[in-house]
Amino acid sequence: MNHKSIAIDGPAGAGKSTLARQLAEKLGFLYVDTGAIYRTVALKVLWEKADPADPEQVVPLLERLDIYMDYGPDGVQRMYLEGEDVSGAIRRHKTSGAASRVSAIPEVRAFLLDYQRRMARENNVVMDGRDIGTVVLPDADVKIFLTAAPEARAKRRLLELEQRGERADFDAILQDIKERDYQDEHRSIAPLRQAADAILLDTTDLDLGQSMSRLLFLVKERISL
Ligand code: DC
Repeated sequence: MNHKSIAIDGPAGAGKSTLARQLAEKLGFLYVDTGAIYRTVALKVLWEKADPADPEQVVPLLERLDIYMDYGPDGVQRMYLEGEDVSGAIRRHKTSGAASRVSAIPEVRAFLLDYQRRMARENNVVMDGRDIGTVVLPDADVKIFLTAAPEARAKRRLLELEQRGERADFDAILQDIKERDYQDEHRSIAPLRQAADAILLDTTDLDLGQSMSRLLFLVKERISL
């Protein structure tokens, strides 16, 4: 059976994971958060006290990498590293920075490529990341490039942290977002960019509900379900 795939790429904080998850739920597709996989590799690197920017330290760790992905009863993707549920740990600030570094290493990307493609061969998927439409699933049925101005993304992140009771500083968040954008867009392998056949969805002036309606409309226009 030919499975359907929807690729959603874009910078950090554009609302990709929330929208992709909700879209997958509405369509009855599997949601694959590829950033979580890179984050789990990064966590292993941190556990080993290795330098995430140094391929000579990172690449040998791939051989013995024990990563597993699963879905809880709530349908939420969970990541396991060496048997331990690390779904919370991979969201920490330190892991975000390390994930951005390890994801620039070609061997890391090659290692994860087959895994991601297999998920899409075996399931109908909504897959989000940075290079899904350009590299991982160039033949995806629908490709969306989801973005928003850095200031809008920083504001959303600030609200999210405040709601969790964490103290945060807008300027620091904005700076962090800009740095990650730069790293993701300027790495030599699979940089973040819009695929030629991807549809641009800019959510700067849209709230979550409006973004979701727009996304669903764009997808339904392009695939028969
Ligand atoms: O989407 P995220 O913030 O959870 O992703 C974590 C890091 O992984 C981010 O710096 C970019 C990288 N990444 C990538 O290079 N390719 C992907 N398909 C997904 C994430």
